[in-house]
Amino acid sequence: MQRTPEPELMLDPEQAQAYAHADFSKPHDRFIHLFRTRCGDPGNVTVLDLGCGPGDICRRFARAFPGCTLLGVDGSQPMLALGQTETRNAGLADRIAYRCGCFPDIDLPEHFDVLISNSLLHHLQDPLVLWQSLLRYGKPGARVFVMDLLRPDSRAQTGALVAKYAAGEPDILQHDFYHSLLAAWRPDEVARQLRDQKLDRLQIEVISDHHYIVHGRLP
Ligand SMILES: C[S@@+](CC[C@H](N)C(=O)[O-])C[C@H]1O[C@@H](n2cnc3c(N)ncnc32)[C@H](O)[C@@H]1O
Repeated sequence: MQRTPEPELMLDPEQAQAYAHADFSKPHDRFIHLFRTRCGDPGNVTVLDLGCGPGDICRRFARAFPGCTLLGVDGSQPMLALGQTETRNAGLADRIAYRCGCFPDIDLPEHFDVLISNSLLHHLQDPLVLWQSLLRYGKPGARVFVMDLLRPDSRAQTGALVAKYAAGEPDILQHDFYHSLLAAWRPDEVARQLRDQKLDRLQIEVISDHHYIVHGRLP
């Protein structure tokens, strides 16, 4: 099945609310668990979360790895506003900062030890923006850990995945999940993107019927 792109930013406040209040504990805890098993505890490091949305992964990461300080970047102010409130309520505002801006236009002043991203790649019109941003903002040898959705073979399979994993969620979330799956990349396509950016030492692993991870170190 051919890829069908979806809008890049999640700017609609209703969409941001639904996303922020959805229960992503399973995939997001899995993100942390997989990071730990593939990369270990990174220690006292700076972490950039690209396309952080409402910051749920930033907060889980900060709790799991108490030595880290994080910057979450997203192009959607409604998403970040929800993230900032939750982060203050969680008592993590001294370790997690947020910045509104879009890759590749944003200009960050720092370089990071660890670069993480969940479910950004399939939103980007140009997927190379993610890999180029890692090279731009990672220190030499920085750790990279990216997770994203895997495009199914057919629309029928896509519908079946939505029914399997999002049946109890509000309509807007089911709609977004369906279209995100249609916009997702396949591992062979990601491998080509990595080769294009000379990042082919990063490893791609399919970890479920609808997710893959990309991990390793920058040159
Ligand atoms: C599906 S959400 C994932 C949010 C978060 N990473 C998570 O796992 O909960 C994708 C996010 O990427 C953001 N985004 C899309 N394109 C972007 C870009 N070019 N620069 C920054 N953020 C972007 C969207 O606004 C949205 O909040």
